[in-house]
Amino acid sequence: MDSAGTLKPLATPTVRLGRLFDAPDLQIFAKLDSLQLSGSTKERTAASLLDAFIASGRLAPGGLVIESTSGNLGIALSRQCVVRGLRFIAVVDENANRSALQIMRAYGARVDLVRDPSDGNKLAARRQRVQDLLAEHPGAVTTNQYGSPDNPAAHYSSTMPEIMDAVDGQLDYLLVATSTTGTLLGCQNYVREHRLPTQLVAVDAVGSVLFNGDAAVRRLPGLGAGVVPELSLQAQPDRVMRIAEMDMVRGCRRLAHREGILAGASTGAIVAAIEQLLPQIPAGSRLAFLVHDSGVPYLHTVYDDEWVAGNLGELQEAGLAS
Ligand SMILES: Cc1ncc(COP(=O)(O)O)c(C=O)c1O
Repeated sequence: MDSAGTLKPLATPTVRLGRLFDAPDLQIFAKLDSLQLSGSTKERTAASLLDAFIASGRLAPGGLVIESTSGNLGIALSRQCVVRGLRFIAVVDENANRSALQIMRAYGARVDLVRDPSDGNKLAARRQRVQDLLAEHPGAVTTNQYGSPDNPAAHYSSTMPEIMDAVDGQLDYLLVATSTTGTLLGCQNYVREHRLPTQLVAVDAVGSVLFNGDAAVRRLPGLGAGVVPELSLQAQPDRVMRIAEMDMVRGCRRLAHREGILAGASTGAIVAAIEQLLPQIPAGSRLAFLVHDSGVPYLHTVYDDEWVAGNLGELQEAGLAS
């Protein structure tokens, strides 16, 4: 029995996907982080961020944590704060999935919703609100997922070793969706330190400012950024792929219909990125990616034809009509 109980993130399974593409010469692996107790990779990030604060003595049971989140880190921190006896305020914006807010509240977190800022930059508005709340609550801390080295450390010490273990140490391509770039950076540090030949592909959203992107309206949460996060300045992927939201939807639905995996928008973006890369990937290559989160919170968006038609465009034109 595991004495850490529900504190420690799960070592999630990595499965081979033989049905996703008609590409028998490739081996494609998916790490199912959607099976974490909080439903996403951010379970690892949240645990690492809190561990570091507690170890440094800056946070103790009863303490208050404040963090800006597009949803998943908020859910993970809500859960991790429960099992550590901490209080939590999640600062979110209107792009967050409705169910994500309900889940945070169900864990006892306070949800602070930042309404549409006049300049449209939701992330900047959320980060300012965190500063305001810190000033209002002396002694409170922010885990600062955008700049803390304890964010990539989670993926350096757990995500990447678990993936390499599952693929017997041989991996040609790793695709990672990016937001704070913490996941990518942790994997990058591991690849470099172990001198692996693995090519790192950052999968970002059209409209994200990461990697010198141009800001534009984005509707789906999980990947992309409206402000350049401090961590991203260290990220040096071999390739950046920018995916449109309709293609994320198409990728999600392919994964659901071909492999029976219900995943969120960022994982759909990775599937779309693989589809675009296929013609360039040498036969015999091994690819891996993370299923960053579950598709359940996206049932009312990505998997809802009416929402897609109303927000992203005609399904017929996108080849999605049933
Ligand atoms: C849905 C989703 N997409 C992408 C990511 C990668 O985000 P980051 O770059 O912040 O590590 C995460 C991280 O947990 C996630 O939950």
